[in-house]
Amino acid sequence: MSFTPLSKWRLFHIAKAGCVVAALGVTLAGNSFADDHPSVKRTIAEQFIHDMQEGKIAEAGAEDHVVQELIIKRSIPITYKYINILMNTPNAFGPGVACTVCHNSQDASKSYRGLDLSTCKGMIEGTTEKPKHTVFTPGVDPKRDHLIRRLRNNRMPLGLGFENSTYTPSHMLVKNWIAEGAKNDDHFTKNVLPLFSTANAFGPNTPACTACHMSNQEPPSFHELNLSTHAGIMLGADSVAKGVDKSTKVIVPGKPELSFVWQHLAEDRMPPGISPAEARDHPNTTILSAWIKQGAKCD
Ligand code: HEC
Ligand code: HEC
Repeated sequence: MSFTPLSKWRLFHIAKAGCVVAALGVTLAGNSFADDHPSVKRTIAEQFIHDMQEGKIAEAGAEDHVVQELIIKRSIPITYKYINILMNTPNAFGPGVACTVCHNSQDASKSYRGLDLSTCKGMIEGTTEKPKHTVFTPGVDPKRDHLIRRLRNNRMPLGLGFENSTYTPSHMLVKNWIAEGAKNDDHFTKNVLPLFSTANAFGPNTPACTACHMSNQEPPSFHELNLSTHAGIMLGADSVAKGVDKSTKVIVPGKPELSFVWQHLAEDRMPPGISPAEARDHPNTTILSAWIKQGAKCD
């Protein structure tokens, strides 16, 4: 990970704040009734100090360290009021205009995908333009649902901008191959497989997929994904890290829209134009996820 001057500055202050609280913790510890009686419910600040002393607080380093330690781990409730501010604020998830500039009504003639991110009801109802669907389910981890994946998943090949068509002949060949069962036949070998190892196959000035996904070893292959053989594609991602049985499947035969390969070819990360170098785990994305997991309450 690379540190911008800003995050270095922030980490320094987080580390400094940590020492102060830890020092406080030492003086408080002797007097803390809860520390001697583990069954007694600690306040959130006492719990924080306790975890710090026990060494249970992760090393500073992740971009969203503060969010993880002070909000997610402590189950601080996220209010819709904050989510509404995020939707209306530029640069809330990385450089770009606010979400509600483009998604502010269920009228698809005024708002992309008829997705209204300006109200809680609109967020929960999702898109009104075909294909209509919700963009998350309250109470369910949204990592793979439309809203969060649009904030996290870069379009592939990495660096390809939103202005490039997602309906090129190459895109259609991959989509139809998945729709027809993702078979390892002559058509696949001759017409589909070579697309993954050809530069500019899915858009101008882009490397071949296999420049970055060529084997099960990371590095050099991102997500241990091998797009150079049928077996590699069907095995999926992270087969070494998670084990062959638990690898992340990137193809669901017969269902392109559920296949990560298709999602990564067809879906732009939001806000459109954001650089793939921007953190996928932006602190506000983590908070939006937490709000959804907590039940996406509107009040
Ligand atoms: C400049 C206009 C613009 C902005 C700003 C924008 N979007 Fe989008 N969004 C689009 C367009 C265009 C599409 C449809 C095309 C596509 O799929 O890439 C889209 C699609 C989506 C979808 C997919 C809906 C579906 O079909 O499931 C989601 C979710 C989404 N945007 C969320 C967001 C969020 C969250 C933000 C704020 C971080 C945001 N968008 C900012 C233009 C924008
Ligand atoms: C320049 C390097 C690069 C190229 C070229 C590239 N990728 Fe990726 N790919 C990545 C990185 C980095 C990630 C991880 C996270 C992200 O940004 O989404 C990734 C993630 C993925 C994932 C998600 C894996 C998972 O665990 O869910 C899929 C699927 C994928 N790429 C497919 C493709 C396809 C198909 C192509 C060619 C059209 C391609 N990639 C080209 C770098 C690349």
